[in-house]
Order: sequence, then structure tokens, then C-alpha cells
Amino acid sequence: MFPSSFETKLAVSLFAGSGIGDKAFETAGVQFLLHNELITERANLIKTNFPNSTVINEDILNKEEEIMNTVHKIIGNQELFAIIATPPCQGMSQNGLGTLLLNVRKGLRPKLDPRNRLILPALRIAVALKPKWIIFENVSRMSNTVIEDENGKLRPILDLISEYLGSEYIGESKVVEFADYGIPQCRKRLITVYSKLPIAKKYLQSGGSLIPPETHHQLGKNSLPKWITVKDTIGDFPILDGKNSETAKHPNLPLHYVPILTPEKYQWISHTPEGNSAFNNQCINPKCGFKNNPTHKASRDSSGINRANNNTPLYCIKCGDLLPRPFTKTKDGKLRIMRGFTSAYKRMSWDIPAPTLTKNLSFPCSDRNIHPTQNRVLSLAEACKLHTISDFNYKWGPLIWKNKKIKQASDSLIRESIGESIPPKFMYLLGQHLINITEKKY
Ligand SMILES: C[S@@+](CC[C@H](N)C(=O)[O-])C[C@H]1O[C@@H](n2cnc3c(N)ncnc32)[C@H](O)[C@@H]1O
Repeated sequence: MFPSSFETKLAVSLFAGSGIGDKAFETAGVQFLLHNELITERANLIKTNFPNSTVINEDILNKEEEIMNTVHKIIGNQELFAIIATPPCQGMSQNGLGTLLLNVRKGLRPKLDPRNRLILPALRIAVALKPKWIIFENVSRMSNTVIEDENGKLRPILDLISEYLGSEYIGESKVVEFADYGIPQCRKRLITVYSKLPIAKKYLQSGGSLIPPETHHQLGKNSLPKWITVKDTIGDFPILDGKNSETAKHPNLPLHYVPILTPEKYQWISHTPEGNSAFNNQCINPKCGFKNNPTHKASRDSSGINRANNNTPLYCIKCGDLLPRPFTKTKDGKLRIMRGFTSAYKRMSWDIPAPTLTKNLSFPCSDRNIHPTQNRVLSLAEACKLHTISDFNYKWGPLIWKNKKIKQASDSLIRESIGESIPPKFMYLLGQHLINITEKKY
């Protein structure tokens, strides 16, 4: 199944999610022989997309040995090209590393999230399998995270990576903005790449970087083209409207449909200009049309927590009419402004990349999720395009779920898979870059 040839580059993916980033790494020229993922629905998508890979659908903590043994058995004495480890990021700290370490020195132990320690089994597997390349991807705040090492000592996670891998490996970490790589979405992640190849060490020491060079620039400087925008990417998609079931679905374009909005939400959204939030909507009474009602703001309270104003007016301060702003009903039947930040019920802008797509991308109340000009959120087809999934041969089905063959993943599985994954185009560029260094084609 995996021919022992000089050309074959074999890889293992840990915390593989639905294998979206891996699909692009594969397209760059790497073959996956094993994936590990905890959530069955996601593991099923991996099976659909990587029929030749062994998929271990279990907690990595219980399967460390099995992962190592399976890989050894498959590759014999071939060398593994890469291990990709993208552990979950929900537990990563928002605090500055300096403050955390200062508190540790003062004897104050920070509250530790056990999920952050999941990098340890990944490191043990990497040390046992000794691939040419090891890639970690995580949220930028991973560089601020401390975890307990195997001796119970608190250590910055990045120090532990280099300590585990030892002097045999050399590497670098960098926060990258994916829009700088021609991805029409602003999303930052910490990319860490290590290698044991002498050629990679030479390349790094001579000023090269293991992270691929940027291909785009926000303002189009350094001879690079400008960031790719929402308009460039989804401007040609057929119009949809969240008003009713007939207008909310395209008859034959796969995944091009949107949820139907309640009449209130529809009204708030339909009065929201491009790039703005429905919380800032102005008076729609044709006899008044006052445009200077105070807008919605957020400010830090006495404990330093950022809170959205709840005194933003809901009624026009000139004529007293209800403004088309998000509201809720109180128990006594009165309307009050909804609790929400200025990024809630907000439209995207055409002329910049999309904001980070999250698993909540179909909810208008969540961060900047509304289409720039149409009265709706993005369709899943548009989200796949903005995440660059559509550029690769990634399939959302068929898959086996609870012993039944399902034609296509559920909407929520698609949204979660997008929200948690690395935009595949970056993994493609990274794969190409690492192959070029390995083969000295630079
Ligand atoms: C950030 S996502 C990976 C996304 C993936 N790289 C992609 O491009 O689609 C992290 C994944 O780790 C999985 N995970 C969390 N805890 C795990 C564990 N103990 N063992 C195995 N996988 C785990 C989560 O279910 C999640 O799918």
C-alpha cells in the first residue's frame, strides 16, 4: 500500500480533526499513513478522504503505543517524512507569559487546563518515530501557555517542544496571518516547524525560514499582490435571501443555502450597511430618519473586563420610534437592547478578507457573520471557498455514521470542521516549502 521508494513521503497526523489541512498537505506530495482523532464524526470524514490511511479514532492518551507500533509496522525501516500535530486550543491562556511566570515565581499557580498537556503524548510519539519534519499548529496564544511537564514543573510549552526534541532537531515558531498567503480570510495561528535534516539546519542557519514566504501583502507592498478580498472570492455566487425557504436555497449549487431568519432578525439585518453592525442602525421612520442616534460601544468595567454597553438607545432619541436594532423582551413585556458586542449582527466588508470563520458562521448574532450586502449569513459553499477548501479535492461524504451510509456530513459537522481547521492552502504551501528544502530545490 505504501511502496518503499525514495520518492514516497509518508506522514502521520495527530489531532487530525476532519483532515482538512491534511488534504492540502497530501496534494503537495505527501502520503498519510495514519491519522488519530478523538471525535468519531470527524474520524469518519478522514476515512472518506484518506481511504489508505489507518484511522485511530481514540483518545491519544490511550493509544500512544498503538500509534507508534502501527507506524513502525507500516514503514519498517523507511523514514517518516512528517508528523503534523494540531492539538486543541480551547485551553490556551489569554494572559501574558511574563505575568504567568512572575506569578509562578511568587508561588501562585495558574489554573491549568489539562487539554494543554495533550502536546506531551504528541512529543513522545515524535521522539519515538523521529520524522524528518515535525509541524505544530495552534492559536497564537500557545506561545503564552505554560503546562506541567512530566516532573510536575511548570514550563512554557514552546520550551518543552525544543527540550523534548533535543539537539538533533532545530526549528522555529512564527505567528502567521493566513491572509498573507492569499487566503481570503484573516486568521492568525502559531506555526512551529522542526527538522532533523542537515539541509534544513543549513537552510535555517543561512537565514532561510522553515515557514514559507508570504505571497500577499495587506497593502500590496514588497512586490506582493494585495490581500484577496471577500468580493474577489464570493462576489459571483448566486444571490440568496434569508427571508423564506424559496429564496434561502439555490436549486442545484451544492451547499449554497442559508438558514431562514426570523422577521425581526431580517429587519435588523436589512437595515444594516456593509461593514457595520445592526446595533448602530438609525431611525427608519420616513418622517424622521434621524441619523445620529448614539452607536453601540464596548468598554472595560472596573475589573478590566470588556463589556458591551447596555444603555445604547433602542428608540430614536428624536421621534421615539423603535430603531431596527437587536432587542429582547423583558419579563414585563418591555423591549430592551440585546446584550451583544459591536461585532454581533455585523456585516462583512467586500473589499477586505473575511473575518476568521468559526463554527458559529451560520449565526447572525455571532462575530461579523452577515453577508456584505445580501440579507443572510454565508452559505457553507461560500465558507468553503473563503477557507480555500474548495481548492482541494476534499469530500464531505459519503460517510458511515452509526452503521449507516450518509450522503453528506451534517451542517454542524461542516461548520465545526471549518472552524477548527487550518486553511488548507497554507498547508499546501507549507508542504511544498518543506519538500523543496528536503530536495534542495530552493
Ligand atoms: C484544532 S483541531 C485539528 C484540526 C485539523 N488540523 C484540521 O486541519 O482539520 C484539534 C482536534 O483534536 C482532537 N482531539 C482533542 N483531544 C484529543 C485527544 N485526547 N485525542 C485525540 N484527538 C483529540 C479534537 O477532536 C479536534 O478535532
